[in-house]
Amino acid sequence: MENQKSCNKAKALLDWVDARFPLSKMYNEHVGEYYAPKNFNFWYFFGSLALLVLVIQIVSGIFLTMNFKPDGTTNAQNLPVAFAAVEYIMRDVSGGWIIRYMHSTGASMFFIVVYLHMFRGLVYGSYKKPRELVWVFGSLIFLALMAEAFMGYLLPWGQMSFWGAQVIINLFAAIPVIGPDLSTWIRGDFNVSDATLNRFFALHVIAVPLVLIGLVVAHLIALHEVGSNNPDGVEIKKLKDSNGIPLDGIPFHPYYTVKDILGVVVFLIFFCGVMFFAPEGGGYFLEKPNFDPANPMVTPPHIAPVWYFTPFYAILRAVPSFAGTQVWGVLAMGAAVVLIALLPWLDRSPTKSIRYRGPIFKTALVLFIIAFIGLGILGAMVATDLRTWVARILSIIYFAFFLLMPIYTKMDVDKPVPERVTMGTTKQKVMFFVYVAITLIGSYLFAVNI
Ligand code: HEM
Repeated sequence: MENQKSCNKAKALLDWVDARFPLSKMYNEHVGEYYAPKNFNFWYFFGSLALLVLVIQIVSGIFLTMNFKPDGTTNAQNLPVAFAAVEYIMRDVSGGWIIRYMHSTGASMFFIVVYLHMFRGLVYGSYKKPRELVWVFGSLIFLALMAEAFMGYLLPWGQMSFWGAQVIINLFAAIPVIGPDLSTWIRGDFNVSDATLNRFFALHVIAVPLVLIGLVVAHLIALHEVGSNNPDGVEIKKLKDSNGIPLDGIPFHPYYTVKDILGVVVFLIFFCGVMFFAPEGGGYFLEKPNFDPANPMVTPPHIAPVWYFTPFYAILRAVPSFAGTQVWGVLAMGAAVVLIALLPWLDRSPTKSIRYRGPIFKTALVLFIIAFIGLGILGAMVATDLRTWVARILSIIYFAFFLLMPIYTKMDVDKPVPERVTMGTTKQKVMFFVYVAITLIGSYLFAVNI
C-alpha cells in the first residue's frame, strides 16, 4: 500500500516534469528505446569509457584548481609558484596526491581509450555513410583533446612543460609572413612566460572543456540519429519488425548498460593499478625532467612531447626544411591529423567492416598501424640519421594509407556482407587477434632494432 502510494507520487512528479521538459522522451530516445545492434563486442567498450574518463578529468580538474596557482613568478624559496603549488598539492593537501595522479594519468588513459575507440571505427568502417558527421565530430574532439592536453602540460611549470611549449609554439613561427607575430600572440610574450601560463590555464580550465563537452554531445546526437554501426557493418534499421523495431536491435538499457558497467569495472582496476603502482608510467605519463622546475636558462638535453603526441612529432621531425623554411614539417603534421577527419570521403569501398574486406585493405591497415606505432616510438627517441630516415619511410606509409585509399579500396575484392548481423565466427576472432599480434610484434621488433 505504502509502496503503491510512493509509486503514484513518483509518477505524478514525472508527469509534472514531462509536461514541462521532455525528460521521459529523451530517456526513451537515447536509452530505454535506443535499439543498438545485438552483436557489439569488446571494441564497443571504449565510447562509454571515453565518457567516463571525461568525467574523471573534469571532476579531478575542479579539485586541482582549488589549490593550484597559475603563477610563473618565483616564491621566497626561489621556486616558480605554479611548480610549488603542485608540490603542495602532492604533499600537503589532504588526498591531493590521488587527485593529481588521477588527473595526470587520466590524460594518458584518455588517449589510450580514444585511440582504441578510433581504431574500432577504422576497423569496422564506422566513419562511412551515414556516420560521416559522427566521425567528423569525433575528429574535432580529437583535436580539442590534443589542445587540452598540450595546455594542461604547461601548468605544472616543470622543465618539460616549459621547453615542450617553447618548441611547439615556435613551430608557428615557421609559417611565412604572419608566423613570428602569431607565435608571440599565442605566448602573449616574446618567450614562454607567466602570461603564457595564465592564458593556458584559462583555456585549459574553461574554454576547451566547454568545447569538448559540446562536441561530445553533438557526437552522440549524431550517432543516435543514424544508429550505431557494428562489427559486421550491417545497417540494422533496414530490417524491422511490425512494431518498427530493428530485428537485430536490443534496447540500450538494460543490455548495454550492464555490458558497459563490466567495461567500467575492468577499466577502473587497470586505472587504479597505474595510479597506485606506476603513476609516472615509466617516464611516459609524467616525464622525468618535469620533476625539475622550469628554467628558461637550461635546455633539457632531449625534449620530447608526451607519448600520445609522438607519432605526429616524429612526422614533424622527419620532414626536411626546404626552400629556406621549416614550414613543411608543420604542414605535414597538421595534414596527418586533418586526413583522419577526411576518411569518410577517402574510403570508396562498398563494405564497412574488415570482416568482409579483401586482403588489400587488411594489409594497408596493418602497415598503417605499424607506421603509427613506429612513429610514436621514434618520436620519443633522440633523433639520429638512421632514425630520421626510418621516420621518413614510416611517414610515407602513413600518408600513403590515406592518400591512396580512394584507389586501393576500389581495387579490393570485398566479400558479400550478410543481411543479418552475426555473432562473429571463431575464425574471424582468431584472425583478428593474429592481425593485432602481427602488428604489435612487428612494431616491437622494429623498435628494438633501431
Ligand atoms: C571524448 C572523446 C569521445 C567520447 C566521450 C566518445 C563517445 C562515444 C560514445 C559513447 C559512442 C557510442 C558507443 C560506442 O560506439 O563505443 C561513440 C561512438 C563513436 N565514436 Fe566516439 N567518442 C569520443 C571520441 C571519438 C573520436 C576521437 C572519434 C574519431 C575520430 C570517434 C568516433 C566515433 C564513431 C565513428 C562512433 C560510432 C561507432 C559505431 O557505431 O560503430 N569518437 N563515441
